[in-house]
Amino acid sequence: MEGKMPLIGDEFPHIEVQTTHGWLKLPEAFKGKWFILFSHPADFTPVCTTEFYAFQQRYPEFRELNTELIGLSVDQVFSHIKWIDWIRDNMDTEIEFPVIADTGKVSKLLGLIHPGAGSHTVRAVFIVDPKGTIRAILYYPAELGRNFDEILRMIKAFQVADAQKVAMPANWPNNELLGDRVIVPPATDVKAAAKRLEEYECYDWWLCHKALDE
Ligand code: BEZ
Repeated sequence: MEGKMPLIGDEFPHIEVQTTHGWLKLPEAFKGKWFILFSHPADFTPVCTTEFYAFQQRYPEFRELNTELIGLSVDQVFSHIKWIDWIRDNMDTEIEFPVIADTGKVSKLLGLIHPGAGSHTVRAVFIVDPKGTIRAILYYPAELGRNFDEILRMIKAFQVADAQKVAMPANWPNNELLGDRVIVPPATDVKAAAKRLEEYECYDWWLCHKALDE
């Protein structure tokens, strides 16, 4: 992994991180679970504060989906602790997930500081599966807070796609054409293509869909 930014399909790098919950080894700390590592530019900044609040609101739902959260910025652990205290005192919300106090090492490894976007970490999201494989990477700029319902939707969609070996249409489960139906992976030979048309509802042999298995 040395010198190369991890990408979708790569194993999440093995790193030890200092967090508000003590030192953790990643990805081992979340073995058998999905986890979302997300970076923010800096503590005590307005958009980031709304993001922490939004993520915490959905934390119980993420946990029900066997998914853990871990934040990150290049701030000291004392700053994270003070900021979390501030959020508790002023917004009546306890931030329960750990936050990494990065010295810059993890940010460099994961490609979280983008040369054209200043010296802070961008708003990145790494979605990692229970085997430690990176399944999705999102980047948002400093001026745009993330949509946490979409991140929740991605976890739900990944879990269904993996369990039922299907692909998920746009905006699933509210797709404009298919509703909550899912896409059967395209056939890879002529015989299978013909069979698809008999077995499923299809727009064509390469766009077949079905209801979710119970
Ligand atoms: C914010 O979270 O509000 C923010 C952080 C860094 C740069 C700009 C905005």
